[in-house]
Amino acid sequence: MFSVDRGQFGPNFVFGAATAAYQIEGGQTDGRGPCIWDTFAATPGNVKNADDGKTACDHYNRWPEDLDLIRDGGFDGYRFSIAWPRLIPEGTGAINQAGLDFYDRLIDGMLERGLKPFATLYHWDLPSALQDRGGWMNRDIGGWFADYAALVGRHFGDRLHATATINEPWCVSILSHILGIHAPGYRDLRAGARAMHHVLYAHGMGVDALRANGVKNIGIVTNLEKSEPASDKEDDQRAFDLGDAMFNRWFLGGVYKGQYPEVLTSILDQYLPVDYQKDMEIVSRPLDWAGINYYSRGLYAWDASRPAFPIKQVKGPLPTNDLGWEIYPKGLTDLLVRVSKEYTKLPLYVTENGMSEIDDTRRVAFYDDHLKAVLEAQKQGADVRGYFAWSLLDNYEWAEGYSSRFGIVHVDYASQKRTPKGSYRAFQGMLHNTR
Ligand code: FCB
Repeated sequence: MFSVDRGQFGPNFVFGAATAAYQIEGGQTDGRGPCIWDTFAATPGNVKNADDGKTACDHYNRWPEDLDLIRDGGFDGYRFSIAWPRLIPEGTGAINQAGLDFYDRLIDGMLERGLKPFATLYHWDLPSALQDRGGWMNRDIGGWFADYAALVGRHFGDRLHATATINEPWCVSILSHILGIHAPGYRDLRAGARAMHHVLYAHGMGVDALRANGVKNIGIVTNLEKSEPASDKEDDQRAFDLGDAMFNRWFLGGVYKGQYPEVLTSILDQYLPVDYQKDMEIVSRPLDWAGINYYSRGLYAWDASRPAFPIKQVKGPLPTNDLGWEIYPKGLTDLLVRVSKEYTKLPLYVTENGMSEIDDTRRVAFYDDHLKAVLEAQKQGADVRGYFAWSLLDNYEWAEGYSSRFGIVHVDYASQKRTPKGSYRAFQGMLHNTR
Protein backbone atom coordinates (compact mmCIF):
# COMPACT_ATOMS: atom_id res chain seq x y z
CA MET A 1 0.00 0.00 0.00
CA PHE A 2 1.09 3.55 -0.66
CA SER A 3 0.92 6.28 1.95
CA VAL A 4 -0.29 8.87 -0.56
CA ASP A 5 -3.71 9.46 -2.13
CA ARG A 6 -4.27 10.24 -5.77
CA GLY A 7 -6.31 13.32 -4.81
CA GLN A 8 -3.18 14.97 -3.40
CA PHE A 9 -1.66 15.23 -6.90
CA GLY A 10 -4.37 17.50 -8.31
CA PRO A 11 -7.58 16.93 -10.25
CA ASN A 12 -6.29 16.07 -13.74
CA PHE A 13 -3.05 14.39 -12.79
CA VAL A 14 -2.32 11.48 -15.14
CA PHE A 15 -1.11 8.22 -13.67
CA GLY A 16 0.22 5.78 -16.21
CA ALA A 17 2.46 2.84 -16.92
CA ALA A 18 5.26 2.90 -19.49
CA THR A 19 6.88 0.43 -21.89
CA ALA A 20 8.88 0.53 -25.12
CA ALA A 21 8.38 -1.39 -28.36
CA TYR A 22 11.64 -3.32 -28.56
CA GLN A 23 11.47 -4.29 -24.89
CA ILE A 24 8.05 -5.94 -25.05
CA GLU A 25 6.71 -6.51 -28.55
CA GLY A 26 8.69 -9.38 -29.99
CA GLY A 27 6.68 -10.17 -33.11
CA GLN A 28 9.51 -9.53 -35.47
CA THR A 29 7.30 -10.71 -38.29
CA ASP A 30 4.68 -9.27 -40.63
CA GLY A 31 7.18 -7.14 -42.51
CA ARG A 32 9.00 -5.48 -39.60
CA GLY A 33 12.50 -4.49 -40.71
CA PRO A 34 15.68 -5.20 -38.71
CA CYS A 35 16.89 -2.65 -36.17
CA ILE A 36 20.20 -1.86 -34.49
CA TRP A 37 19.24 -3.76 -31.34
CA ASP A 38 18.76 -7.01 -33.30
CA THR A 39 22.37 -7.07 -34.42
CA PHE A 40 23.80 -5.46 -31.28
CA ALA A 41 22.18 -8.24 -29.25
CA ALA A 42 23.43 -10.89 -31.69
CA THR A 43 27.02 -9.71 -31.25
CA PRO A 44 28.73 -11.74 -28.52
CA GLY A 45 29.50 -9.88 -25.32
CA ASN A 46 27.07 -6.98 -25.70
CA VAL A 47 24.07 -8.27 -23.76
CA LYS A 48 23.91 -10.37 -20.60
CA ASN A 49 23.17 -14.02 -21.43
CA ALA A 50 23.08 -13.03 -25.13
CA ASP A 51 19.38 -12.22 -24.66
CA ASP A 52 17.57 -10.55 -27.54
CA GLY A 53 14.17 -9.03 -28.25
CA LYS A 54 12.91 -11.65 -30.72
CA THR A 55 10.04 -12.71 -28.48
CA ALA A 56 10.31 -10.42 -25.45
CA CYS A 57 6.85 -10.29 -23.80
CA ASP A 58 5.07 -11.25 -27.03
CA HIS A 59 3.08 -8.06 -26.64
CA TYR A 60 2.61 -8.02 -30.43
CA ASN A 61 0.07 -10.80 -29.88
CA ARG A 62 -0.87 -10.33 -26.22
CA TRP A 63 -1.56 -6.59 -26.24
CA PRO A 64 -5.28 -6.90 -25.34
CA GLU A 65 -4.38 -8.65 -22.08
CA ASP A 66 -1.72 -6.03 -21.36
CA LEU A 67 -4.10 -3.13 -21.97
CA ASP A 68 -6.64 -4.83 -19.69
CA LEU A 69 -3.98 -4.88 -16.97
CA ILE A 70 -3.38 -1.14 -17.34
CA ARG A 71 -7.10 -0.39 -17.23
CA ASP A 72 -7.71 -2.71 -14.27
CA GLY A 73 -4.81 -1.11 -12.40
CA GLY A 74 -6.81 2.12 -12.50
CA PHE A 75 -4.25 3.95 -14.64
CA ASP A 76 -5.32 6.87 -16.82
CA GLY A 77 -2.65 6.63 -19.49
CA TYR A 78 -0.30 4.29 -21.28
CA ARG A 79 3.12 5.43 -22.47
CA PHE A 80 4.22 3.17 -25.33
CA SER A 81 6.58 3.54 -28.24
CA ILE A 82 6.09 3.02 -31.95
CA ALA A 83 8.73 0.90 -33.69
CA TRP A 84 10.09 2.84 -36.65
CA PRO A 85 11.19 -0.40 -38.44
CA ARG A 86 7.68 -1.83 -38.08
CA LEU A 87 6.17 1.13 -39.94
CA ILE A 88 9.02 1.80 -42.39
CA PRO A 89 11.16 -1.36 -42.54
CA GLU A 90 14.10 0.32 -44.30
CA GLY A 91 13.77 3.53 -42.30
CA THR A 92 12.84 5.53 -45.39
CA GLY A 93 10.58 4.68 -48.30
CA ALA A 94 8.09 1.83 -48.39
CA ILE A 95 5.51 1.63 -45.61
CA ASN A 96 4.52 -1.65 -43.96
CA GLN A 97 0.72 -1.82 -43.81
CA ALA A 98 0.78 -4.57 -41.16
CA GLY A 99 2.70 -2.18 -38.92
CA LEU A 100 0.12 0.56 -39.31
CA ASP A 101 -2.60 -2.02 -38.63
CA PHE A 102 -0.90 -3.16 -35.42
CA TYR A 103 -0.68 0.34 -33.93
CA ASP A 104 -4.23 1.09 -35.12
CA ARG A 105 -5.44 -1.87 -33.08
CA LEU A 106 -3.28 -0.92 -30.11
CA ILE A 107 -4.30 2.76 -30.02
CA ASP A 108 -7.98 1.96 -30.60
CA GLY A 109 -7.64 -0.64 -27.83
CA MET A 110 -6.43 2.08 -25.46
CA LEU A 111 -9.25 4.42 -26.39
CA GLU A 112 -11.84 1.66 -25.95
CA ARG A 113 -10.51 1.10 -22.44
CA GLY A 114 -10.51 4.79 -21.59
CA LEU A 115 -6.70 5.02 -21.57
CA LYS A 116 -4.90 8.11 -22.85
CA PRO A 117 -2.29 7.16 -25.47
CA PHE A 118 1.13 8.75 -24.78
CA ALA A 119 3.22 7.78 -27.82
CA THR A 120 6.99 7.95 -28.21
CA LEU A 121 8.34 7.91 -31.76
CA TYR A 122 11.86 6.76 -31.01
CA HIS A 123 12.78 4.44 -28.17
CA TRP A 124 16.06 3.19 -29.63
CA ASP A 125 15.04 0.74 -32.38
CA LEU A 126 16.72 2.51 -35.29
CA PRO A 127 16.14 0.70 -38.60
CA SER A 128 19.39 -1.06 -39.53
CA ALA A 129 19.30 0.37 -43.04
CA LEU A 130 19.67 3.85 -41.53
CA GLN A 131 22.59 2.73 -39.37
CA ASP A 132 24.23 1.56 -42.60
CA ARG A 133 24.01 5.21 -43.70
CA GLY A 134 25.57 6.48 -40.48
CA GLY A 135 22.49 6.57 -38.25
CA TRP A 136 22.62 9.37 -35.68
CA MET A 137 26.06 10.43 -36.95
CA ASN A 138 24.55 11.53 -40.27
CA ARG A 139 22.77 14.88 -40.39
CA ASP A 140 20.30 13.43 -42.89
CA ILE A 141 18.63 11.72 -39.97
CA GLY A 142 16.76 15.00 -39.44
CA GLY A 143 14.90 14.42 -42.69
CA TRP A 144 14.49 10.68 -42.23
CA PHE A 145 13.01 11.21 -38.78
CA ALA A 146 10.75 14.04 -39.99
CA ASP A 147 9.30 11.79 -42.71
CA TYR A 148 8.64 9.06 -40.17
CA ALA A 149 7.09 11.60 -37.76
CA ALA A 150 4.87 12.91 -40.57
CA LEU A 151 3.60 9.40 -41.24
CA VAL A 152 2.78 8.89 -37.56
CA GLY A 153 1.10 12.30 -37.44
CA ARG A 154 -1.02 11.69 -40.54
CA HIS A 155 -2.07 8.23 -39.56
CA PHE A 156 -2.43 8.27 -35.78
CA GLY A 157 -2.15 11.93 -34.76
CA ASP A 158 -5.80 12.65 -34.01
CA ARG A 159 -5.99 9.69 -31.61
CA LEU A 160 -2.87 10.43 -29.56
CA HIS A 161 -3.23 12.28 -26.28
CA ALA A 162 0.44 13.24 -26.18
CA THR A 163 3.42 12.55 -28.43
CA ALA A 164 7.11 12.52 -27.59
CA THR A 165 9.72 12.61 -30.33
CA ILE A 166 12.75 10.97 -28.70
CA ASN A 167 13.19 8.91 -25.57
CA GLU A 168 16.32 9.85 -23.65
CA PRO A 169 18.66 11.64 -26.04
CA TRP A 170 21.53 11.06 -23.56
CA CYS A 171 21.18 7.32 -24.11
CA VAL A 172 20.76 7.66 -27.88
CA SER A 173 23.97 9.65 -28.11
CA ILE A 174 26.36 9.33 -25.16
CA LEU A 175 25.51 5.86 -23.85
CA SER A 176 25.41 4.43 -27.39
CA HIS A 177 28.18 6.35 -29.18
CA ILE A 178 30.72 7.27 -26.47
CA LEU A 179 30.26 4.70 -23.71
CA GLY A 180 29.46 1.88 -26.14
CA ILE A 181 26.96 0.24 -23.80
CA HIS A 182 23.90 0.45 -26.04
CA ALA A 183 23.45 -0.06 -29.79
CA PRO A 184 25.20 0.72 -32.05
CA GLY A 185 28.00 0.39 -29.48
CA TYR A 186 30.48 3.06 -30.56
CA ARG A 187 33.18 4.32 -28.22
CA ASP A 188 34.17 7.41 -30.10
CA LEU A 189 34.01 11.08 -29.20
CA ARG A 190 33.39 12.30 -32.73
CA ALA A 191 30.59 9.79 -33.25
CA GLY A 192 29.18 10.85 -29.88
CA ALA A 193 29.38 14.60 -30.46
CA ARG A 194 27.60 14.22 -33.78
CA ALA A 195 24.90 12.04 -32.27
CA MET A 196 24.48 14.50 -29.35
CA HIS A 197 23.62 17.25 -31.79
CA HIS A 198 21.79 15.29 -34.47
CA VAL A 199 19.46 13.63 -32.00
CA LEU A 200 18.21 17.04 -30.88
CA TYR A 201 18.17 18.40 -34.44
CA ALA A 202 16.06 15.40 -35.50
CA HIS A 203 13.81 16.02 -32.52
CA GLY A 204 13.16 19.58 -33.73
CA MET A 205 12.59 18.42 -37.30
CA GLY A 206 10.18 15.81 -35.92
CA VAL A 207 8.27 18.47 -33.97
CA ASP A 208 7.78 20.51 -37.15
CA ALA A 209 6.62 17.46 -39.09
CA LEU A 210 4.17 16.42 -36.37
CA ARG A 211 2.71 19.95 -36.14
CA ALA A 212 2.43 20.22 -39.93
CA ASN A 213 0.32 17.09 -39.77
CA GLY A 214 -2.02 18.39 -37.10
CA VAL A 215 -0.53 16.69 -34.05
CA LYS A 216 -1.11 18.50 -30.76
CA ASN A 217 0.56 18.17 -27.39
CA ILE A 218 4.15 17.42 -28.37
CA GLY A 219 7.16 16.94 -26.10
CA ILE A 220 10.46 15.17 -25.63
CA VAL A 221 11.54 12.78 -22.87
CA THR A 222 14.94 13.54 -21.31
CA ASN A 223 16.49 11.24 -18.74
CA LEU A 224 17.99 13.29 -15.96
CA GLU A 225 20.32 12.26 -13.22
CA LYS A 226 20.80 14.11 -9.94
CA SER A 227 24.47 14.85 -10.49
CA GLU A 228 26.43 15.67 -7.34
CA PRO A 229 30.11 16.12 -6.45
CA ALA A 230 31.73 13.16 -4.66
CA SER A 231 33.20 15.55 -2.09
CA ASP A 232 33.45 19.27 -1.50
CA LYS A 233 37.00 19.35 -2.86
CA GLU A 234 37.34 21.93 -5.62
CA ASP A 235 38.35 19.32 -8.21
CA ASP A 236 35.28 17.24 -7.49
CA GLN A 237 33.10 20.34 -7.83
CA ARG A 238 34.58 20.85 -11.28
CA ALA A 239 34.02 17.17 -12.08
CA PHE A 240 30.39 17.56 -11.02
CA ASP A 241 29.98 20.62 -13.22
CA LEU A 242 31.22 18.69 -16.25
CA GLY A 243 29.23 15.55 -15.40
CA ASP A 244 26.07 17.56 -14.91
CA ALA A 245 26.64 19.36 -18.22
CA MET A 246 27.06 16.03 -19.99
CA PHE A 247 24.05 14.32 -18.45
CA ASN A 248 21.58 17.14 -17.94
CA ARG A 249 22.50 20.58 -19.23
CA TRP A 250 23.41 19.60 -22.79
CA PHE A 251 19.93 18.25 -23.45
CA LEU A 252 17.88 20.63 -21.28
CA GLY A 253 19.88 23.63 -22.49
CA GLY A 254 19.57 22.61 -26.14
CA VAL A 255 15.87 21.84 -26.10
CA TYR A 256 14.55 24.54 -23.77
CA LYS A 257 17.04 27.39 -24.38
CA GLY A 258 18.68 26.66 -27.73
CA GLN A 259 22.06 26.65 -26.01
CA TYR A 260 24.63 24.00 -25.17
CA PRO A 261 26.81 24.43 -22.05
CA GLU A 262 30.07 26.15 -22.83
CA VAL A 263 32.05 23.81 -20.57
CA LEU A 264 31.17 21.05 -23.07
CA THR A 265 31.23 22.83 -26.40
CA SER A 266 34.76 23.93 -25.59
CA ILE A 267 35.78 20.26 -25.40
CA LEU A 268 33.57 18.93 -28.20
CA ASP A 269 33.84 21.80 -30.67
CA GLN A 270 36.41 19.96 -32.78
CA TYR A 271 34.05 16.99 -33.19
CA LEU A 272 30.67 18.70 -33.52
CA PRO A 273 29.14 19.15 -36.98
CA VAL A 274 30.28 22.34 -38.70
CA ASP A 275 27.79 25.17 -38.18
CA TYR A 276 25.79 23.26 -35.63
CA GLN A 277 24.89 26.66 -34.11
CA LYS A 278 22.67 27.34 -37.13
CA ASP A 279 20.41 24.47 -36.09
CA MET A 280 19.73 25.71 -32.57
CA GLU A 281 16.43 27.28 -33.48
CA ILE A 282 15.20 23.93 -34.74
CA VAL A 283 16.67 22.14 -31.72
CA SER A 284 14.69 24.44 -29.42
CA ARG A 285 11.31 24.44 -31.13
CA PRO A 286 8.53 25.37 -28.67
CA LEU A 287 6.93 22.34 -27.05
CA ASP A 288 3.73 21.63 -25.15
CA TRP A 289 5.06 19.53 -22.30
CA ALA A 290 8.34 18.23 -20.91
CA GLY A 291 8.97 14.57 -20.05
CA ILE A 292 11.50 13.57 -17.42
CA ASN A 293 12.74 10.07 -16.69
CA TYR A 294 14.38 9.66 -13.33
CA TYR A 295 16.13 6.72 -11.70
CA SER A 296 19.15 7.73 -9.65
CA ARG A 297 21.94 10.14 -8.88
CA GLY A 298 25.51 10.34 -10.19
CA LEU A 299 28.50 11.17 -8.01
CA TYR A 300 31.45 12.75 -9.78
CA ALA A 301 35.13 12.86 -8.87
CA TRP A 302 38.05 14.40 -10.72
CA ASP A 303 40.25 11.94 -12.61
CA ALA A 304 43.35 13.47 -14.13
CA SER A 305 44.21 10.25 -15.97
CA ARG A 306 41.51 11.03 -18.56
CA PRO A 307 42.71 14.11 -20.40
CA ALA A 308 39.65 14.84 -22.57
CA PHE A 309 37.10 14.28 -19.82
CA PRO A 310 38.91 14.29 -16.48
CA ILE A 311 35.99 12.90 -14.50
CA LYS A 312 34.75 9.58 -13.23
CA GLN A 313 31.59 8.37 -11.50
CA VAL A 314 32.10 6.87 -8.06
CA LYS A 315 29.89 4.65 -5.93
CA GLY A 316 27.88 6.37 -3.22
CA PRO A 317 26.75 5.08 0.17
CA LEU A 318 22.97 4.96 -0.41
CA PRO A 319 20.95 1.73 -0.73
CA THR A 320 20.70 0.60 -4.36
CA ASN A 321 18.44 -1.35 -6.69
CA ASP A 322 19.70 -4.71 -7.91
CA LEU A 323 21.65 -3.04 -10.74
CA GLY A 324 23.59 -0.98 -8.19
CA TRP A 325 21.77 2.32 -8.88
CA GLU A 326 21.45 4.44 -5.74
CA ILE A 327 17.92 5.11 -4.52
CA TYR A 328 17.49 8.85 -4.04
CA PRO A 329 13.91 10.19 -4.09
CA LYS A 330 15.04 13.69 -3.14
CA GLY A 331 16.87 13.82 -6.47
CA LEU A 332 13.51 13.65 -8.25
CA THR A 333 12.15 16.59 -6.27
CA ASP A 334 15.30 18.60 -6.91
CA LEU A 335 15.32 17.91 -10.65
CA LEU A 336 11.65 18.73 -11.18
CA VAL A 337 12.08 21.99 -9.30
CA ARG A 338 15.30 22.78 -11.16
CA VAL A 339 13.77 22.16 -14.58
CA SER A 340 10.79 24.34 -13.77
CA LYS A 341 12.93 27.14 -12.30
CA GLU A 342 15.81 27.13 -14.76
CA TYR A 343 14.50 25.69 -18.01
CA THR A 344 10.78 25.70 -18.72
CA LYS A 345 7.36 26.51 -17.33
CA LEU A 346 5.77 23.79 -19.47
CA PRO A 347 3.73 21.11 -17.70
CA LEU A 348 6.12 18.41 -16.48
CA TYR A 349 5.50 14.69 -16.68
CA VAL A 350 7.56 12.07 -14.92
CA THR A 351 7.54 9.75 -17.92
CA GLU A 352 9.54 6.97 -16.24
CA ASN A 353 10.49 6.06 -12.70
CA GLY A 354 10.94 2.62 -11.24
CA MET A 355 13.22 0.00 -9.81
CA SER A 356 14.99 -3.14 -10.98
CA GLU A 357 14.43 -5.53 -8.12
CA ILE A 358 13.20 -9.03 -7.35
CA ASP A 359 11.94 -8.20 -3.84
CA ASP A 360 8.75 -6.36 -4.68
CA THR A 361 8.23 -4.96 -1.17
CA ARG A 362 11.29 -2.80 -1.88
CA ARG A 363 9.65 -1.64 -5.11
CA VAL A 364 6.48 -0.62 -3.24
CA ALA A 365 8.59 1.50 -0.87
CA PHE A 366 10.53 2.94 -3.84
CA TYR A 367 7.34 4.07 -5.58
CA ASP A 368 5.85 5.42 -2.39
CA ASP A 369 8.95 7.50 -1.67
CA HIS A 370 9.14 8.82 -5.23
CA LEU A 371 5.45 9.68 -5.32
CA LYS A 372 6.03 11.69 -2.16
CA ALA A 373 8.98 13.33 -3.91
CA VAL A 374 6.62 14.41 -6.71
CA LEU A 375 4.23 15.94 -4.18
CA GLU A 376 7.14 17.79 -2.62
CA ALA A 377 8.17 19.14 -6.04
CA GLN A 378 4.62 20.37 -6.62
CA LYS A 379 4.74 22.03 -3.21
CA GLN A 380 7.95 23.79 -4.22
CA GLY A 381 6.24 25.13 -7.34
CA ALA A 382 6.95 22.59 -10.09
CA ASP A 383 3.96 22.11 -12.37
CA VAL A 384 3.98 18.30 -12.43
CA ARG A 385 0.95 16.85 -14.25
CA GLY A 386 1.63 13.16 -14.52
CA TYR A 387 3.64 10.15 -13.38
CA PHE A 388 4.35 6.93 -15.27
CA ALA A 389 5.69 3.79 -13.63
CA TRP A 390 8.51 2.03 -15.45
CA SER A 391 7.49 -0.53 -16.22
CA LEU A 392 4.16 -2.23 -16.73
CA LEU A 393 5.86 -5.56 -17.38
CA ASP A 394 9.16 -7.23 -16.64
CA ASN A 395 10.82 -6.90 -20.02
CA TYR A 396 13.97 -6.83 -22.13
CA GLU A 397 16.22 -4.51 -20.15
CA TRP A 398 18.60 -3.74 -23.02
CA ALA A 399 22.22 -4.72 -22.19
CA GLU A 400 20.97 -6.38 -18.97
CA GLY A 401 18.73 -8.69 -20.98
CA TYR A 402 15.93 -10.42 -19.09
CA SER A 403 17.88 -10.70 -15.84
CA SER A 404 16.73 -7.29 -14.66
CA ARG A 405 13.07 -6.99 -13.69
CA PHE A 406 11.50 -3.53 -13.56
CA GLY A 407 7.86 -4.65 -13.93
CA ILE A 408 4.92 -4.04 -11.63
CA VAL A 409 3.62 -7.16 -13.36
CA HIS A 410 5.76 -10.30 -13.34
CA VAL A 411 6.33 -12.07 -16.65
CA ASP A 412 7.20 -15.75 -16.83
CA TYR A 413 9.01 -15.75 -20.16
CA ALA A 414 8.57 -19.50 -20.77
CA SER A 415 4.77 -19.39 -20.55
CA GLN A 416 4.31 -15.62 -21.09
CA LYS A 417 2.04 -15.63 -18.05
CA ARG A 418 1.55 -12.21 -16.46
CA THR A 419 1.15 -12.01 -12.67
CA PRO A 420 0.52 -8.65 -10.96
CA LYS A 421 3.02 -7.93 -8.19
CA GLY A 422 2.32 -6.16 -4.90
CA SER A 423 3.48 -2.90 -6.48
CA TYR A 424 0.75 -3.21 -9.14
CA ARG A 425 -1.76 -3.80 -6.34
CA ALA A 426 -0.44 -0.74 -4.49
CA PHE A 427 -1.06 1.44 -7.55
CA GLN A 428 -4.45 -0.18 -8.02
CA GLY A 429 -5.33 0.50 -4.39
CA MET A 430 -4.34 4.14 -4.66
CA LEU A 431 -5.89 4.73 -8.07
CA HIS A 432 -9.18 3.11 -7.19
CA ASN A 433 -8.96 4.96 -3.92
CA THR A 434 -9.70 1.83 -1.93
CA ARG A 435 -6.83 1.80 0.48
C1 FCB B 1 15.41 3.98 -19.26
C2 FCB B 1 14.82 3.51 -20.56
C3 FCB B 1 13.88 2.35 -20.43
C4 FCB B 1 14.35 1.36 -19.39
C5 FCB B 1 14.67 2.06 -18.10
C6 FCB B 1 15.09 1.15 -16.98
O1 FCB B 1 16.67 4.53 -19.49
O2 FCB B 1 14.12 4.54 -21.20
O3 FCB B 1 13.75 1.78 -21.70
O4 FCB B 1 15.41 0.64 -19.88
O5 FCB B 1 15.67 3.01 -18.32
